[in-house]
Amino acid sequence: MRLFLGSDFHVDYQQNLDWLRALSRADFTDDVLIVAGDLSDRLDLVKSCFDEIVPRYKKLLFLPGNHDLWTSRSGKGPSFDKFETLNTLCHGYGIETGPLAVGQTLIVPLLAWYDYSFGEPGPSIRRGWMDFYKCNWQGLTPPDVAARFDAMNVIPETSGFNAVYSVSHFVPRLDLMPVRYPEKHKALFPVLGTERLEAQIRRLGSSKHFYGHSHLNRNKLIDGVTYINNAFGYPSETEISAKTILHVADL
Ligand SMILES: [Fe+2]
Ligand SMILES: [Fe+2]
Repeated sequence: MRLFLGSDFHVDYQQNLDWLRALSRADFTDDVLIVAGDLSDRLDLVKSCFDEIVPRYKKLLFLPGNHDLWTSRSGKGPSFDKFETLNTLCHGYGIETGPLAVGQTLIVPLLAWYDYSFGEPGPSIRRGWMDFYKCNWQGLTPPDVAARFDAMNVIPETSGFNAVYSVSHFVPRLDLMPVRYPEKHKALFPVLGTERLEAQIRRLGSSKHFYGHSHLNRNKLIDGVTYINNAFGYPSETEISAKTILHVADL
């Protein structure tokens, strides 16, 4: 059995959904797929993704990204309610949203939000970052939201497993971003992730951590943990994302 990783399919772009629809229906039926968030803010499109992916894999593990929690096009209700709606939807499909044990391997999803531990956002981000308009956190600040998601994470008992892997949508440490990065993109660093994730990864004793959100594919070993980003990304992002579902481990 193999473990595959994908994230950030952003199927609002028809060609991204078409790519998912063209995936083999025969090659992955004994495999596990992690989808690390950002399918779409539209629930009907999230369902379309699940309709495509679920029959192709033995098991799917999903955790939402920031785009999935936008509510501006779905009644403008609280984003925490949208989170619960997504969880309920997943359970209806038999999709795992909590820790998943497969043989001797434990895969642990870590919920998060950015909390400005990577830096304070500048005026351009405060003005233009879409989450600030598209999510409804009922007056909570991003650090408040991060604390709420952090508190939802269950750090399970890991003894007895040969391998522990973890998954987040958000970036767990800023040094996963290249030092040489265009200044205009560096403005995004404050909304990329949180140091809380790194603390949880180390507490878990995870040897591989899978993440998305930055749309910048990475495979980097830092202090015994291999960090892998295999975001699919927007159609225009051909140089930073491989546009594939990646085989990341054997189970
Ligand atoms: Fe994304
Ligand atoms: Fe994202």
